[in-house]
Amino acid sequence: TVLDPDPERTTQREVRVPPGVPVFDAASWNGIAIDSTCGGHGTCHKCKVRVEGSTPITRHDVKTFTREQLDDGWRLACLVQATRDLAVDVPPLTTRPKAATVGVGRQVILRPAVQKRYVELDEPSLADQRPDIDRLLAAIDDLEPVPDLHVLRRLPTVLRAADFKVTAVIVDEALVDVEPGDTTDVRYAIAYDLGTTTVVATLLDLALGTPVAVASMLNKQQPFGGDVITRISATMMDPETLPRLQQAASATLAELAAQVCAEGEVDPRHVYEVAVAGNATMTALVLGIDPEPLGVAPFVMATSQPAAVLATDVGLDLHPRARVAFFPALGAYVGGDIVAGMLATGMDRDKRVRLFIDVGTNCEIVVSDGDRILSTAAPAGPAFEGGAIKCGMRAADGAIEVVRLGDDVQLGVIGDVEPKGLCGSGLVDAVAELAKVGLLDGTGRFVPDAQAPTIAPALADRLTRIGEERVFVLHRPHADAPPEECVVLSQRDVRELQFAKAAISTGWTLLLEELGLEHKDVQQVLMAGSFGSYISPASAVRIGLVPKLPVLRIVSAGNVAGEGAKMALLSIRERAGAEALLEEVTYVELSDRADFNDRFVEQLGFGG
Ligand code: FES
Repeated sequence: TVLDPDPERTTQREVRVPPGVPVFDAASWNGIAIDSTCGGHGTCHKCKVRVEGSTPITRHDVKTFTREQLDDGWRLACLVQATRDLAVDVPPLTTRPKAATVGVGRQVILRPAVQKRYVELDEPSLADQRPDIDRLLAAIDDLEPVPDLHVLRRLPTVLRAADFKVTAVIVDEALVDVEPGDTTDVRYAIAYDLGTTTVVATLLDLALGTPVAVASMLNKQQPFGGDVITRISATMMDPETLPRLQQAASATLAELAAQVCAEGEVDPRHVYEVAVAGNATMTALVLGIDPEPLGVAPFVMATSQPAAVLATDVGLDLHPRARVAFFPALGAYVGGDIVAGMLATGMDRDKRVRLFIDVGTNCEIVVSDGDRILSTAAPAGPAFEGGAIKCGMRAADGAIEVVRLGDDVQLGVIGDVEPKGLCGSGLVDAVAELAKVGLLDGTGRFVPDAQAPTIAPALADRLTRIGEERVFVLHRPHADAPPEECVVLSQRDVRELQFAKAAISTGWTLLLEELGLEHKDVQQVLMAGSFGSYISPASAVRIGLVPKLPVLRIVSAGNVAGEGAKMALLSIRERAGAEALLEEVTYVELSDRADFNDRFVEQLGFGG
């Protein structure tokens, strides 16, 4: 999807989102603000954008736009789905919002922890010799902030240089700075999704509640291992590794902060708060806390919520008193990123039966029946990240992400370049499509060579061997390329995916049973995370990764950890909601259940 915002406000941006995501969400997730007061529900008629090319017209569009505007491509952004590459013009905001739309259609009333108050103070005199700080605090006595030393050091000079016309900066209940003149409109924060693989930073304008810039990069801890277990093991083998991992995480956060501030043309000193949503291991490592107890039974965290952390403690050069708010974690394997995801998807606010799945090496699963919320973690292994897959790769240029089988093989490739390998969503698609056309049987085995031509004549010649192993050729670089030079799906790859999906489906099956529910009772499935969001709902249903439900009930939720972090910065009420989740959610340990293995084996097949 290509979003082309107003060139005066920012340059042209190209972003990639899961297919079917509304343009409104696609923009919001990528730091592009679109007018709205309804939160993307199609009722405020404010989210006007111009879409190039033919786009369906809804009845809401007809009510909102003139015939000429409709012909010119004007549509309501929350009602346009990105099912193909789109070029979209986004006009600048026309209203000063009181609320922001974040997460999955969540409308957040702006109430950030960062407050600014402009005051014009009476100058001292022999008749009024109150201390400077008392003079300032009296003017903002409704906020009752506690001044810190940083303020006291600056106060006498700033007050006199600015003729006693200053802006007080309050974060939570602390008076952290005093700035000359009226700077009430200048207040920013950075929301981080601190992933094991990828880290995403969003710079937020707290006065408007809008994203200013977004940047992402691979976590610099990658060289120490691809998943949390290898990184924990690395610290156990060499005591020098922990400080190096901490330094790598800090460097990642700092580089992203510099990028978003540069792109948003914001002075880093005006960033007063940071929120971090990360799993328990990433949180421990960025703080330099020994992660070993997280990696060995009984899997214990040093703290479920680190308190009183300053940005400087994690190597960030922002406002010198900027705070870091970490999301609370439910357990060693259901961390702050998942609590942030629950906040962003409103798992605690919805009366429907909902299933939340964050697909990854460690897959987190949450089920709510509108009353109780249960969570668990399932070790899915590296298949979704392309690990242990013959032609597996990350979702980067050249990765096959969509596979359709019919009379031929149709592939969707990231970056529209020559296919180089298969990423997680492509793997799920490939297996689901092979099962659909009948080349994989219900147990996940390729059908015998002799049967393939009758089952799928147009595809049978793609079923071949590399050595002893049977493979299906997805892409041949040229007509006579031997299978070794092709992008293939192997029998072992299918097995890897079966193990991964069985771990996940065993998890949600057992959680549903705990709540006395069946698969068909689930009213919405939220597929979250950088892998889950891109998996085709139809393929996920076909292989049994999610319950067998109509695909419309399966929703791509996007980067919900980052969205939750944004919510925490925009509203202290939402932040309190995240903390309340610690009490509301019950963690269910599955690994010690006697029936786990039997259930796992039941889930291995594709169910016909
Ligand atoms: Fe309100 Fe689209 S966001 S109508």
